[in-house]
Amino acid sequence: MTPVRLRILLVGATGVVGRCVWHSLQASHDVISASLDPAQGDHQVQLDLSDADALVTTLKNMGPLDAVISAAGRARFGALADARPASLDASVYGLGLQDKLMGQVNLALAAREVLRPGGSITLTSGTTSTEPVLGGAGLSMVNGALESWVCAAATELPQGWRLNVVSPSLVEGTPAAACAAFPGFEKVSAERIGLAYMRCLFSGITGHVLRV
Ligand SMILES: NC(=O)c1ccc[n+]([C@@H]2O[C@H](COP(=O)([O-])OP(=O)(O)OC[C@H]3O[C@@H](n4cnc5c(N)ncnc54)[C@H](OP(=O)(O)O)[C@@H]3O)[C@@H](O)[C@H]2O)c1
Repeated sequence: MTPVRLRILLVGATGVVGRCVWHSLQASHDVISASLDPAQGDHQVQLDLSDADALVTTLKNMGPLDAVISAAGRARFGALADARPASLDASVYGLGLQDKLMGQVNLALAAREVLRPGGSITLTSGTTSTEPVLGGAGLSMVNGALESWVCAAATELPQGWRLNVVSPSLVEGTPAAACAAFPGFEKVSAERIGLAYMRCLFSGITGHVLRV
């Protein structure tokens, strides 16, 4: 069955993961590409996941959507030995919690303003939720929390809306400096990444963590 043409917001479209998703969808759907830095890359909408108020306004201005996908969210690596008790703003964990975790949670919450009945929301976590790496405790915390939130929140969504999270391992095309933090990890092809987001859109699943 050929899927109908959907109107999709893709946040993080200019990134490594976002480009995989873009390539898998753009030929058959109306994809609105969004990213953080208005001066960078080729995107249509500037949007900051960490600015909750602006997020709601930007989505409302966008009009009805069939799907919202996030392939964005920043978090910081840091050795546990350097981590100190600190408030969220001062903590080495603050960026991940405020940007990657709450940014994507807020995106999903804001999406309810514009999502058509039966619409789909797909977020992005990462393999460290279950496969730890040195210096990645903060990232593991954020990814694990995001996956748990998706599983639980999906059970309360009305209007046939679906909520899933893709948890990629190391993605092909990731810069060498970032790859160095994942020794021994096999790279996942762009095609497999794109297919995981397609499954979230079209296979009817909800509350799932798709590990790829
Ligand atoms: N690459 C991997 O192997 C891999 C594996 C597992 C999970 N992930 C996760 O997937 C997500 C994307 O990773 P990536 O490697 O594709 O990163 P990337 O290449 O650095 O791209 C990040 C994308 O997200 C956008 N972005 C960043 N912060 C944002 C914010 N606050 N609001 C809106 N957009 C924002 C960036 O926009 P600008 O370009 O305008 O800054 C860019 O489009 C991250 O959460 C990462 O942890 C990545």
